[in-house]
Amino acid sequence: MTLDKFRLENKNVLITGAAGLLGKEHASAILEVGGKVILTDVTKKKLEDTKKILSSQFNPNSILISKMDVTKKEDILKVSKDLSKSKIRVDVLINNAAINPKVGKKLNPTKKLRFENFSSEDWNLELDVGLKGAFFCSQIFGTKMASDSKGGVILNISSDLSVISPDQRIYQLKGISEDNQPVKPVTYSVIKNGLIGLTKYVATYWSLKGVRCNALSPGGVLTDQDNEFIKKLNRLIPLGRMASKDEYRSTVQYLCSEASSYVNGQNIVVDGGRTIW
Ligand SMILES: NC(=O)c1ccc[n+]([C@@H]2O[C@H](COP(=O)([O-])OP(=O)(O)OC[C@H]3O[C@@H](n4cnc5c(N)ncnc54)[C@H](O)[C@@H]3O)[C@@H](O)[C@H]2O)c1
Repeated sequence: MTLDKFRLENKNVLITGAAGLLGKEHASAILEVGGKVILTDVTKKKLEDTKKILSSQFNPNSILISKMDVTKKEDILKVSKDLSKSKIRVDVLINNAAINPKVGKKLNPTKKLRFENFSSEDWNLELDVGLKGAFFCSQIFGTKMASDSKGGVILNISSDLSVISPDQRIYQLKGISEDNQPVKPVTYSVIKNGLIGLTKYVATYWSLKGVRCNALSPGGVLTDQDNEFIKKLNRLIPLGRMASKDEYRSTVQYLCSEASSYVNGQNIVVDGGRTIW
């Protein structure tokens, strides 16, 4: 049965940045199809809270948590070693961690994030998390996946901004000078485009060892954003609305399972059609 191919029984899925908005959704999607999750993030408390939420719906024995900062190779190596000691093989890796400041109820004027003023400290910090972190995790867990006959899957969470440039007009505020207008920072574009390069590289590097690598590029998730921002963004999306946070779950299940066994090196864009306009 084709539907059986979506099942992830006996598979361990490690998720980075798992305590965030979409990390929880990825975890829940994996648990729903019978997989086990290893939730990793920088804050123990946030991980414990996430486990508590997921445990109300799923078997707590299927949920492990581990503090892991993706910018620190020694953290990732320690988690990998601890899992090996417990005879837990990482079958699927979801590189999801990012510094992803949300557009909240109110957009704020900012000079700091504008291209002209963007600092090397912010550049390094954001690229370390979003790009170098994905590289380290792919290197460490991917090498293990490739080293026995079992293979595995790496899924990089990118963004619709891996395909298009941010439309800075949607962040603009009325009555603010140009040099103070909020923007989506350059790092976001660089990281999300970079992840597609990493995806293609890894997808060919270990292809004959049974390791597939793909990217999922979501569009913006509706939370509590500023109303004007939502209206402007909705006009750029053929479906006329932002995503709800659970609308990526089926794609995560597809890309992490045998259901996508012949999909490799692709960027699967799930964005209500925004990138075709
Ligand atoms: N939310 C959206 O609308 C949206 C849209 C497109 C793409 N994305 C992408 O989806 C992914 C998840 O986004 P989100 O909205 O859940 O963001 P989020 O900010 O809610 O979650 C990101 C998580 O990453 C963690 N993190 C930060 N630095 C880390 C580090 N050094 N090591 C490990 N973890 C670290 C944070 O603690 C946080 O829990 C990101 O890659 C983001 O770019 C999100």
